[in-house]
Amino acid sequence: MNYDHALSECAFLSADSNPVFTQSCDFLLALGQYSALPFEIAAMLERASQRTTCWPAVSEELALNCSEERGSETGGIPHVEILVAGVARELGLDLRTVEHSRETSAFIDALRQQVEEGSTARVAGTIFALEASAIAELKVIGRMIEEARKTATAANNSTEENNRWLSMPLRQFIRMHTDGFEVEHRSRLWTALQSCEQNEEEQREFDDGFRFVLQAMDSWWKSIAGSSRLH
Ligand SMILES: [Fe+2]
Ligand SMILES: [Fe+2]
Repeated sequence: MNYDHALSECAFLSADSNPVFTQSCDFLLALGQYSALPFEIAAMLERASQRTTCWPAVSEELALNCSEERGSETGGIPHVEILVAGVARELGLDLRTVEHSRETSAFIDALRQQVEEGSTARVAGTIFALEASAIAELKVIGRMIEEARKTATAANNSTEENNRWLSMPLRQFIRMHTDGFEVEHRSRLWTALQSCEQNEEEQREFDDGFRFVLQAMDSWWKSIAGSSRLH
């Protein structure tokens, strides 16, 4: 399977074709739904690491990735906390108070189920899809943040933080991922996967896990656009 080709065919991975951009939506509402994924990712990586111990290099990489999401490289501050602080400060929205739609909850549940019940190969394919799509996805999120900024209510100064990481501008947070963390996550996981012997059945399972995520994400983004459309 050509993974890059599959990713290039995902409409939601480009701001030119993501339904939130093509259907004139409220970008802040859409961001609120999207945030369900960053809230979940560290727990998902931890579980995936536990479920892939038959492929030690993969399991170790997922544990390392998880520790980064939990703040090992950012002064002990989890990445999602930096995002939450930035969105509150720059866009005036508290992501923690956002109610997730039925479709968003179903999407997260579907990912959890894959990681919980899938074979080693399927779990690995699931996480590879998340990591391989993250750079393009975060570029789309960066554009959504810029659009949301145009209509956002004045930033709430009461959320001003002295902590170096929590006060990081959102633009820098996105760049730190698109130019750093996510490049590493994808390439390290790919390298780890190459070191694991995979038979044909496992290869098929890996690809199924990968495809499942892209399809679930495609439906999810359509639902996000549907629930945040401007009337
Ligand atoms: Fe991150
Ligand atoms: Fe990542």
